[in-house]
Amino acid sequence: MIKKAVLPAAGLGTRFLPATKASPKEMLPIVDKPMIQYSVEEAKGCGINDFIVITGKNKRAIEDHFDFAPELVEYLKQKGNGDLLDEIDKMKGLSFAYIRQGKPLGLGHAILCAKPFLNNASFAVLLGDDIIDPDDKLLYEMIQVHNETKAPVVALQEVAQAEVSRYGIIDGNLVKGNTYEIKSLVEKPPTDKAPSNLAVIGRYILSPDIMDILADMQPGAGGEYQLTDALNILLSERKIYGYLFKGKRYDAGDKLGFLKATIDLALKRPEFSAGLLEYIRMISNRL
Ligand code: G1P
Repeated sequence: MIKKAVLPAAGLGTRFLPATKASPKEMLPIVDKPMIQYSVEEAKGCGINDFIVITGKNKRAIEDHFDFAPELVEYLKQKGNGDLLDEIDKMKGLSFAYIRQGKPLGLGHAILCAKPFLNNASFAVLLGDDIIDPDDKLLYEMIQVHNETKAPVVALQEVAQAEVSRYGIIDGNLVKGNTYEIKSLVEKPPTDKAPSNLAVIGRYILSPDIMDILADMQPGAGGEYQLTDALNILLSERKIYGYLFKGKRYDAGDKLGFLKATIDLALKRPEFSAGLLEYIRMISNRL
């Protein structure tokens, strides 16, 4: 059973400046929910109630967001605003621990910071920039693969050859359904050196033995401690699986991806869909 999730949120968010000068990127709203809440709700839907958020400077708004807000709840009750109360209630029963990464030393180092909170059990990692369509069940399906194999599982997506240098890329063999047995991983390879176009996307089920490797390893691509490199080392000790995701993912760390996520997720909402669609049709006729 996977009970805990690590949410790395220490990045500086420079791609979203000036919006992220004083506010965390993770709090940028997609429709009316901060980006990070999509990951929390996705994990909650898989029975995960404990979150370890890796933060840094200027990230306090994340803590406030997931905190109890008794005055707000009282106010909404008095106003009889049940729908908004239900929205706020969604976070009830979840527990959040925050740990500061201190230095931006990369994803591998961020995960290592969570070690004291994980009680030596397997855990999920969700990278909030990758928004998975809430109707898809990627994390749930990865947990099923983990439960069957007892092995680490990373999410994969096919990407265009021109994009391989933006991701961790695997070499592997399809063994069953959407599941690959991974042979090797490489972080952000040049296009002509990539072993495939199967990219690791921001969902991982990791085993606690990754921590010793992370603690011992050298910095890799970009001078950062790379989770991809740690997984590559772990492969010499145990099997690791990749689960090919065929649903919809938005790279909300990229401005265009963020806008696409905003439009698609708003179109899924009954209160916006007709009006927004009408507006999109109108402007596309004008172009
Ligand atoms: C990180 C990982 C990379 C992975 C990507 C998925 O990179 O290092 O292996 O493919 O997330 O979004 P980042 O996007 O933080 O540079």
